[in-house]
Amino acid sequence: MKDPTRRAFLGSVATGVAGSVAARYVPSLHAQADAARIEILIDEPIGTIAPEIYGHFVEHLGGVVYDGVWVGEGSRIPNIGGVRKALVDRFKTIKPAVVRWPGGCFADSYDWHDGVGAPDKRPRRTDFWADTRPSENRAASDGPQRFDPNRFGTNEFIRFCRLTGAAPYIAANVRSLPAKDFFQWVEYCNAPAGATTMSELRAEGGDTEPFNVRYWGVGNEPWGCGGNFTPEEYATEFRRYTAWVPKYGVPLRYIAAGPNGGDRDWTTKFFRTLVARGAGALNDVFGWALHYYTGTTGDRNAIQFSTDDWYELLSRADRMESLVTDHWTAMAEFDPTHKVKLVVDEWGAWHGASPDMPPNYLWAYPGSLRDALVSALTLDTFNRHADKIAMANVAQLVNTIHSLFLAKEDQFIVTPNFHVFAMYAAHQGGQSVRTVFSAPPISIARGRQGMMSLWGLAGSASLRNRELTVTVVNPHATDARPCAIAIRGAAVRSARAAVLTSTDLRAHNSFEHPDALAPRDAAVAAASGSIRHTFPAASVTRLDLTLG
Ligand code: AHR
Repeated sequence: MKDPTRRAFLGSVATGVAGSVAARYVPSLHAQADAARIEILIDEPIGTIAPEIYGHFVEHLGGVVYDGVWVGEGSRIPNIGGVRKALVDRFKTIKPAVVRWPGGCFADSYDWHDGVGAPDKRPRRTDFWADTRPSENRAASDGPQRFDPNRFGTNEFIRFCRLTGAAPYIAANVRSLPAKDFFQWVEYCNAPAGATTMSELRAEGGDTEPFNVRYWGVGNEPWGCGGNFTPEEYATEFRRYTAWVPKYGVPLRYIAAGPNGGDRDWTTKFFRTLVARGAGALNDVFGWALHYYTGTTGDRNAIQFSTDDWYELLSRADRMESLVTDHWTAMAEFDPTHKVKLVVDEWGAWHGASPDMPPNYLWAYPGSLRDALVSALTLDTFNRHADKIAMANVAQLVNTIHSLFLAKEDQFIVTPNFHVFAMYAAHQGGQSVRTVFSAPPISIARGRQGMMSLWGLAGSASLRNRELTVTVVNPHATDARPCAIAIRGAAVRSARAAVLTSTDLRAHNSFEHPDALAPRDAAVAAASGSIRHTFPAASVTRLDLTLG
């Protein structure tokens, strides 16, 4: 768990009003027409971008499940079998490949038996997050966010997945339930119709046929809320929980709970212990989970931030690049052929709660253009490491942290993060190809900490047949970046663009102005097979290129 108050920050930065100190952020070189170049090497494939990289996360935390996902069958809010219809309708447009549930920290206090069987007989339990308040001055009622009625359990989660086309990824409880309960949850989900008592229990919940759940997380953050284990202890537990689990013909993909950010020691010690009884144990690990959040504290929040804060957050989000390569290198010591891939199953920008959202919603806020750039640069990082990353799950889907949606009673809006996921959906399943971005870096003065440098442009590219998708982030708060784009190995026949930007760094959507920030189409100048394009300041751009 990375409560914002516990997260490490790079240090203090000068405060100011957005835009007022922008003159301090200047490219090291002047942004002239030829100063920026993007080369796309379509003959240098990196790997297929797993659609699961565009994955999501739903935890029983604050307003995520109740009322974000689940409003109940009897609700006046339009629903499909109790699931908020507006969420289903918008969510499925971005082709969600996978949804992780039920936590997070909640997973290690959750007994799945509580969430199955007759809904009116299910027990109410104290939620893991019951006593958490995003700030001292917020009242909390004893609603479902505090005392979980278990109305949304395994069958309801699977139905939500089926409504949206996503695969389920279930995180099992390692801290407070024995391995037998994990074994039986797999049985409940995957045993054939009528075969066992567990399959009959599933049928009582309305689902005779098996769910065939493939992705199973073995605990969550075992270094913290998941049990305060050492990496050696957790590796031993992982081996025990995954031993001799019945398969029912479903290829189970276990995800081991990995490090908190840059904790390379956790990675090294886990893998050393895992393979202590033979390298065959690697065959039981599909993914090594990595969690990384960035965010703000104090009187800054999702919307109230300075230009300093803008660069600070983007720089910290950019750390994902080195986290991926560092842990990948650490894993290679014990897994030289890289059987195990990375699963970044929690990531996002974590700010304080918005006072406009209900008190029981933890860390619910609209997210701004700044968060959209965090989404874009993170997804670009994942695309560039398509050979290493098998899945990623943004935290979380609705009403908390880096959410794509906000829902309050019958009001429902998409955040700027949603728009980035929609723009980037074209990458899913594409072949990631190597790119070379050359743009004058942005030099940032950080008071006594000296200068910091952030790249001038970054992005990723993927190819599907002759369709090339290129996504580009320009982090400069005020300067547009003219750029030449060269496709090595092919000519461009047609080009178009979509761009998400605003002159207001704090631009965001609200229930009153749901479309204040949305992408728009833009023209692209393509002549004689080469392209020139100006990337606006503070923007995310997708180029759709058809190659000859
Ligand atoms: O996403 C919120 C919390 O952050 C999760 O429950 C936990 O795994 C992480 O620390």
